[in-house]
Amino acid sequence: MALRMKLRCLWIFGLCLAASKFSKVPSIKDPQFIQQCVALHNEFRGKVDWDHGLAKVAEAWAKQCRFEHNKCLKIPYQCYRDFAHIGENLWLGGLALFTPKYAITKWYNESQHFDFNNLSCSNICGHYTQVVWANSYKVGCAAASCANFGGATFAMFVCNYGPGGNFKNDLPYTQGPPCTMCSTEERCVNKLCPFNCSILLTERKDLKPTGKAPQQIVYNVLSLGFILLRAI
Ligand SMILES: *[C@@H]1O[C@H](CO)[C@@H](O)[C@H](O)[C@H]1NC(C)=O
Ligand SMILES: *[C@@H]1O[C@H](CO)[C@@H](O)[C@H](O)[C@H]1NC(C)=O
Ligand SMILES: *[C@@H]1O[C@H](CO)[C@@H](O)[C@H](O)[C@H]1NC(C)=O
Repeated sequence: MALRMKLRCLWIFGLCLAASKFSKVPSIKDPQFIQQCVALHNEFRGKVDWDHGLAKVAEAWAKQCRFEHNKCLKIPYQCYRDFAHIGENLWLGGLALFTPKYAITKWYNESQHFDFNNLSCSNICGHYTQVVWANSYKVGCAAASCANFGGATFAMFVCNYGPGGNFKNDLPYTQGPPCTMCSTEERCVNKLCPFNCSILLTERKDLKPTGKAPQQIVYNVLSLGFILLRAI
């Protein structure tokens, strides 16, 4: 069975009041916030770099406080001209509970439901597969505080990935010992081929991608795995 990520589940473990209504969420220009988002992703996968444009897309959507995927992601290049397809992970939870580390780890922890051998998922795995999707090499995240959930203040956290992952029937990454796919000239650095993806991005833009092949359905754009976490 193919990976099932079209689950529209809203998991409510408890809707309690968030602690502080006026706590601030970090801005997308906050160096500490950027560092945390990037470092956390890179703890779980090969290197991604921050992309301010993706963070602006994430910020604009997070501020809407709507727990659903950004509509403009459905149309190639609509949200951001650098990427035809952008992936998106969402987290909504109590503001007092929110840290990038908590949310990104929560996404990554879906790996326990994912079976790499037959690409099956026993629960929700789409956040995890997007976090580790090898071809996604840029990330931009944003958080907003949202006061419209039953009076409680929640944090809405959005990460956008370029290019988007979660292509149907594709492996998130190729399994094997680190660096076995590096070119012969490349040395292995921190278990990675020291390949500069910014160069690839420039080249890709010159190549003008022709759009999506029929099988290239971006799951996270079409569907959602919702996680509503317990507020403190
Ligand atoms: C996938 O493989 C695992 C064993 O590796 C098995 O338990 C599971 O039922 C399989 N899932 C599907 C959907 O085939
Ligand atoms: C993720 O899983 C680890 C290991 O099972 C666990 O210690 C941690 O609390 C989990 N984190 C979150 C945010 O769920
Ligand atoms: C990657 O290439 C870009 C554009 O050429 C450059 O700005 C950037 O500093 C390079 N990054 C690394 C880590 O070499």
